[in-house]
Amino acid sequence: MSATGQIKRISVPEIAARKGGEPVSILTAYSISMARLLDPHTDCLLVGDSLGMVLYGMDSTLSVTLDMMIAHGAAVVRGSQRACVVVDLPWATYQESPQQAFRSAARVLAESGAQAVKLEGGEEMAETVGFLVRRGIPVMGHVGLTPQAVNALGGYRARGRSDAEQRKIIGDARAIADAGAFSIVVEGVIEPLARQITESVPAVTIGIGASAACDGQVLVTDDMLGLFSGFTPKFVKRYADIGDTISQAAEAYTAEVRARSFPGPEHVFPVKKN
Ligand code: KIV
Repeated sequence: MSATGQIKRISVPEIAARKGGEPVSILTAYSISMARLLDPHTDCLLVGDSLGMVLYGMDSTLSVTLDMMIAHGAAVVRGSQRACVVVDLPWATYQESPQQAFRSAARVLAESGAQAVKLEGGEEMAETVGFLVRRGIPVMGHVGLTPQAVNALGGYRARGRSDAEQRKIIGDARAIADAGAFSIVVEGVIEPLARQITESVPAVTIGIGASAACDGQVLVTDDMLGLFSGFTPKFVKRYADIGDTISQAAEAYTAEVRARSFPGPEHVFPVKKN
């Protein structure tokens, strides 16, 4: 709470200071209503490009645009007061050059009001991460299973099962941490590798399908609430089954509409007598 009684937003340096301390809780949010519900409970809200698959039914995240991320990011900022809001840079809006990444990230921060951007990639993105960080743009990295590289990786299988893959992923994490990323999402890697990355980088590691030893965790909210009817990965824990609740409510509503028992007298406007 600030001196004016307003709730103070958690800042990027406050998240960065949680290295090795109290684990950071992150959930995805794409809308104002979900942001309002999650904001009192989580440290960060991630406007992930997973919204392409979860909200829009796309086959991968590759068709998500910068304008989509900005619109959803702005909604999440409007719906939250406390959580640090991080917005994904979508595919092909940052890989071409540090300058392209700067233009995209600057638009995201200026037009959505978010605190930081997230981008995928390792050693090959280190120069870009440094370029952004030196110009005042906080960056969360993302290594291991990087969904924007689905075509190159050949799918969404867990990473780090071979020695060569482990060396590559740990090198990726070190490179972007050295470049100044305040935090790194470590996705879909074997457990000891996530542990080793956490021990060897100064950035706050955020696990998803990784390890409880990470400095924090993230889940796709729709997955953990049972709202997403597509494929649910093994690492998702269901904390609620809202999908069933919605389905039952829609069934009850339709039955009442058909029976003309909704709307009832309390839901209509009677003529008022003067
Ligand atoms: O897009 C997303 O939601 C993400 C998380 C799964 C980490 O990147």
